[in-house]
Amino acid sequence: MASLTGLLAGLLTETRVRTLGLVAPFDDAVLRRQHDPLMSPLVWDLAHVANYEDQWLVRALGAAPTPPGPALDGLYDAFAQPRAVREQLPLLSPAEARAYGAAVRARSLDLLGTADLAPDNPDPLLAHGYVHHMVVQHEQQHDETLLAAIQLLPVEEGHRFGAVSPPPAGTVTSQEVRVPAGRALMGSEHPWSYDNERPAHVVELGAYWIDTTPVTNADFSLFIEEGGYDDARLWDPAGWAWRQEAGLVAPQFWKRAGEVWLRARFGQVEEVPALEPVQHVCWYEADAFARWAGKRLPTEAEWERAARWDPLTGEAHTWPWGELAPTTGHANLGQGLLRPAPVGAYPLGVSPVGCHQMIGDVWEWTASDFRPYPGFVAFPYDEYSAVFHGDRYKVLRGGSWATHPSACRTTFRNWDLPIRRQIFAGFRCARDDR
Ligand SMILES: [Fe+2]
Repeated sequence: MASLTGLLAGLLTETRVRTLGLVAPFDDAVLRRQHDPLMSPLVWDLAHVANYEDQWLVRALGAAPTPPGPALDGLYDAFAQPRAVREQLPLLSPAEARAYGAAVRARSLDLLGTADLAPDNPDPLLAHGYVHHMVVQHEQQHDETLLAAIQLLPVEEGHRFGAVSPPPAGTVTSQEVRVPAGRALMGSEHPWSYDNERPAHVVELGAYWIDTTPVTNADFSLFIEEGGYDDARLWDPAGWAWRQEAGLVAPQFWKRAGEVWLRARFGQVEEVPALEPVQHVCWYEADAFARWAGKRLPTEAEWERAARWDPLTGEAHTWPWGELAPTTGHANLGQGLLRPAPVGAYPLGVSPVGCHQMIGDVWEWTASDFRPYPGFVAFPYDEYSAVFHGDRYKVLRGGSWATHPSACRTTFRNWDLPIRRQIFAGFRCARDDR
């Protein structure tokens, strides 16, 4: 199992470099401050990922807690401490949080070096390195959360991280693709998949049409210009109430300047690029847009079938393009661009039915509530998924430009409240085949 051990150690190390790089530009005062009630102070995330790692890669594997020990568990428990109050807690300082993270990491890597990750290990945490990948994904997901918090900083405090330029927009030959009726595989049995992706199962779907690309900023501007935010008939009643209460008139971070829309993005203000997928819209805005367009949001089963089902073989691929792990030529993942790429920019990443950018760029809101799959079993703890099941949360699919490739899959289910806009989320539309 040497190569699996090496792979996991490499992912842990690479991810920590990213985490530390994200907080490096900010002084202690910014790191400790709660600058938005929706997000934690950055320093909370820093110690939280370390505490989670201590619980799962140190203590769960039989070693003693890393000092200062379990006294930290309560402070960094995401359930016990709502985000809005985290600034008031006696948190570790940024220097203490970094030192704690390094101490935990040294011990977890030591333990990983001798752990038996064989598939037949009866301990389900260790078999296939499940718990190690779970902890890596957890930190990768927090890296995305850190960026969402950094995006909320006032423009003058925001940081212009270095980023590469996106590839150019490509040719998209049709606006929609038709997906025929049939049986579709949903979910995953991959050893690293989360409990909420399991078990893989078959669903029966009618024929439907789905947009070839995510909805662009140009598309969304038209919705605004044609009065989409002022027409109650387009909105879900709860969404209309929220639109009134929150004063929604455009995606978050957009501002009108004469004839054009500007957006704030990581310490800079720039013109909204017409051909990028729209982001920072909530589910209610996506739902209203879809109704305005004479369409609806896809269910998550429809989304997954359009992303991975191959009509030639009848099989479902791991990725839209097949079985190869993602590269920068396939999808916009991993925080390299710090923005969505224009539509059509990844011809190598197109799914067998012809959908572009199902993976990366923006999380895509679906019509579906976050519910368990038939036969769901919580693993390894209820608070990962089970406590969120029901009709409060909507499912998002596909990952964003801020999602690490190792934390992204066609079967991965993200969820959030329908009012949330600070995440890197957009959408595409669908409609029945009539
Ligand atoms: Fe967490």
